[in-house]
Amino acid sequence: MQDPVPSASASGTFQIAGDLPVHRLGYGTMRLVGDGAWGEPADPAECHRVLRRAVELGVNLIDTADAYGPEIAERLIAEALHPYPSGLVIATKGGITRQGPAKTEYVGRAGYLIQCVEMSLRRLKLERIDLYQLHRIDPRTPLEESLGALKRVQEQGKIRHIGLSEVTPAEIEDARKIVPIVSVQNRYSLADRRHEETLKYSEREGIAFLPWYPMAGGKQLKPDHPSAQALTALAARHSASIAQLSLAWLLQKSPVLLPIPGTSKVAHLEENVAAATLKLNVEEWVEIEGAFKA
Ligand SMILES: NC(=O)c1ccc[n+]([C@@H]2O[C@H](COP(=O)([O-])OP(=O)(O)OC[C@H]3O[C@@H](n4cnc5c(N)ncnc54)[C@H](OP(=O)(O)O)[C@@H]3O)[C@@H](O)[C@H]2O)c1
Repeated sequence: MQDPVPSASASGTFQIAGDLPVHRLGYGTMRLVGDGAWGEPADPAECHRVLRRAVELGVNLIDTADAYGPEIAERLIAEALHPYPSGLVIATKGGITRQGPAKTEYVGRAGYLIQCVEMSLRRLKLERIDLYQLHRIDPRTPLEESLGALKRVQEQGKIRHIGLSEVTPAEIEDARKIVPIVSVQNRYSLADRRHEETLKYSEREGIAFLPWYPMAGGKQLKPDHPSAQALTALAARHSASIAQLSLAWLLQKSPVLLPIPGTSKVAHLEENVAAATLKLNVEEWVEIEGAFKA
């Protein structure tokens, strides 16, 4: 029997680095762990179901980080999905340490990052990580040291491609003098366009842009959000939800955007993946943009 939920394949395919094809609508794992990305999940069995359902629904780009838990999100991925189906791209990150709920410190020292890669390989039960993202540039460590370390583990075959997170075009340019950069992961949504320049740069250079907080961390979906009334009316016309509208906007905004919405619930995952089929016409596009004008 056909699955009543459309497949993530309806969002189209993007070739990361030209050799890593993924369906554009992915899934982010930060919400699987405790609040503030700290500690065990309230319902681990539901986390496993979310991950398995994502793959069943054609999601083949799963974003994670050693800092989610810490370590817990990567462990859940391996528990739920290993041995991995072919074509599944697990994109992880290193370079953020966590001292408690929502408490972080950036560490980009070479020895630390090399250990991060080794530990992610071990937890994810992988021999090579398809996409390894430097979670943050550490202002106290020269970029040459951080990326030089990742370059070395790449040469050893332990990571395939390297990406960055929360970066400007100038920072990407600096990074590319050291090592090829295939992706960026910056905060970006209908409600938050601070990284418009990085998006334009990514489009020009054919770099994948994974927008984090694609639904403003859930705030954009709440009835008290300033745009709620306009979004609710527009969503109703499509028999859709605000979450679906928010994701459809990202998918239509730029072909390099690969949204990675996060959820801890199968019902929300199914709703989000179904956004892959939602298309906005020109009038609706103007309307939705208008709802977010200051
Ligand atoms: N690079 C970075 O620095 C960075 C930083 C933050 C996040 N990330 C990545 O980006 C991913 C996405 O960001 P995010 O998860 O923080 O924010 P998000 O996707 O914008 O929003 C997630 C929030 O929305 C809720 N939600 C999701 N789908 C929903 C639906 N259909 N209906 C109602 N509520 C819904 C979730 O709660 P429920 O669990 O109840 O569904 C959760 O509270 C993360 O998972 C992580 O992989 C990266």
